[in-house]
Amino acid sequence: METRTALVTGAAQGLGREFAVALAGRGYRVAGFDLEPQPETAEQILDYVELVGDVSDPVAVEEGLERIIERFGTLHVVVNNAGVYPAKPFEETTPEDWRRVMRVNLEAPFLVTRAALPHLKAAGWGRVVNIVSAAVLTAPPTMVPYVASKMGLIGFTRSLAAAVAPYGVTVNAIAPSMVRTATAERTVGADGGFEFVRSRQAVERTQEPADLVSTLLYVVDEGSGFLTGQTLNVSGGSAYL
Ligand SMILES: NC(=O)c1ccc[n+]([C@@H]2O[C@H](COP(=O)([O-])OP(=O)(O)OC[C@H]3O[C@@H](n4cnc5c(N)ncnc54)[C@H](O)[C@@H]3O)[C@@H](O)[C@H]2O)c1
Repeated sequence: METRTALVTGAAQGLGREFAVALAGRGYRVAGFDLEPQPETAEQILDYVELVGDVSDPVAVEEGLERIIERFGTLHVVVNNAGVYPAKPFEETTPEDWRRVMRVNLEAPFLVTRAALPHLKAAGWGRVVNIVSAAVLTAPPTMVPYVASKMGLIGFTRSLAAAVAPYGVTVNAIAPSMVRTATAERTVGADGGFEFVRSRQAVERTQEPADLVSTLLYVVDEGSGFLTGQTLNVSGGSAYL
């Protein structure tokens, strides 16, 4: 079988880095796309394409996809992972706060997937994986734009799954609980956030990025062609679909 290639957005750190390294470990050729340089990801992956830019900028996305095709010649897997999750009281949320969350969490997956689709189609096989959140089920009161954006991404997942199924492409979403990443520790996990979420999970420990890897690998597996339009809730039993 030809070597598969994958694009992971938000690959500089956190879940994105974990996913990029895990796919590389399974023999994928990997490109990472992030606002920031990705030295810690690049040093763990031998044959890595590092794209630095904004995934909510259509021009940067088109240029990024061109670079991937120049280097790898093909693309099979897209992991729309880049995301922001600011917490703020609803009354203090500005239109710019709202738009930023929607741009990064919802518009960027549209732009990246749209730019990638011709290549997945040409390959005749593809997997699109959207990282959402169990917050769509627990509905924290200080994350209204975030929950709206991730619910939007679930809708995108479902409808797109039907649109691209004829090309051998599946589209699924993965919903983590609160995961120990540097950003979460600095923001939503600070001031007892991790303890609170842990107390609501059936699994009594904090979720680590590595806890999402087996689900990602399952979704992108050759044998998972009948799994599409779904949201896999990997939240330690904190919420139920
Ligand atoms: N950490 C959690 O608790 C948690 C829980 C549920 C879902 N998620 C989701 O998982 C994903 C990753 O979360 P994380 O905690 O690993 O985040 P993180 O902040 O550690 O990493 C996100 C990466 O995305 C990049 N990024 C942000 N905006 C970008 C843009 N416009 N263009 C390119 N890159 C951009 C950042 O630079 C960063 O490197 C997000 O979609 C998040 O909503 C996280």
